Amino acid sequence: MTMTAMADTTTAAVRAAGLRKIYGAGDARVVALDGVDVTFARGGFTAIMGPSGSGKSTLMHCLAGLDRPDDGRIWLGDTELTGLRDDALTALRRDRIGFVFQSFNLLPTLTALENITLPFDLAGRRADPDAVHAVVDVVRLGDRLGHRPSQLSGGQQQRVAVARALVTRPDVVFADEPTGALDSVASAELLGFLRHSVDALGQTVVMVTHDPAAAAYADRVVHLADGTIVADRVKVGN
Ligand SMILES: Nc1ncnc2c1ncn2[C@@H]1O[C@H](COP(=O)(O)OP(=O)(O)OP(=O)(O)O)[C@@H](O)[C@H]1O
Ligand SMILES: [Mg+2]
Repeated sequence: MTMTAMADTTTAAVRAAGLRKIYGAGDARVVALDGVDVTFARGGFTAIMGPSGSGKSTLMHCLAGLDRPDDGRIWLGDTELTGLRDDALTALRRDRIGFVFQSFNLLPTLTALENITLPFDLAGRRADPDAVHAVVDVVRLGDRLGHRPSQLSGGQQQRVAVARALVTRPDVVFADEPTGALDSVASAELLGFLRHSVDALGQTVVMVTHDPAAAAYADRVVHLADGTIVADRVKVGN
């Protein structure tokens, strides 16, 4: 093994220190993140749980560079996100981070396949056929690839969204309640797919969920309350 490869495997995928995020002012002031320190190892599958309003989405958005914390620092591997200019942050997000929104966020005029390969188009790169084939294979959309989102079930749409987040093999995939709108069968399929991407591809996944059954697919469960981490459990046997 080369020194570079060794360094890579020992570096965290994502690390945050002293994250604070405050919304509003005066009576409307909300401390959404109140000093969060957290590290996500490469190839780990972490669930983030906690009551509504505890800061889960805020944390994911800050870690993914979709929002900026008021204080604290965030690293993606060796790259510090905090302090990057907007254009550099946009490029980094596009090239190295996958995000699955609760509401799918698919483009209605594009087919399933075009939605999946969109990150390559946005980056001005040719879609890597092997990568596309690999994700399409696991999401098992089969003959639905030419369909538009309105012609797909909720579960199929969410699988397209997950395939799109994974297709560039990002350093980390953040998924905010990816099973929130799915029934138990579709949820199990999607979670199995995320689990497979961790086990077979070494993907790093951080997923918000309210559902203990969904969290059971993860190796680690981090609990937030009032903007701070109140519990952090790694599963025995993983
Ligand atoms: N844009 C905003 N402006 C003002 N307050 C906000 C904004 N976004 C979030 N908040 C507040 O910050 C706190 C954390 O919100 P966040 O969305 O991170 O919670 P959450 O844990 O994801 O909740 P849920 O489980 O309901 O999705 C909440 O009190 C929320 O009202
Ligand atoms: Mg949320």
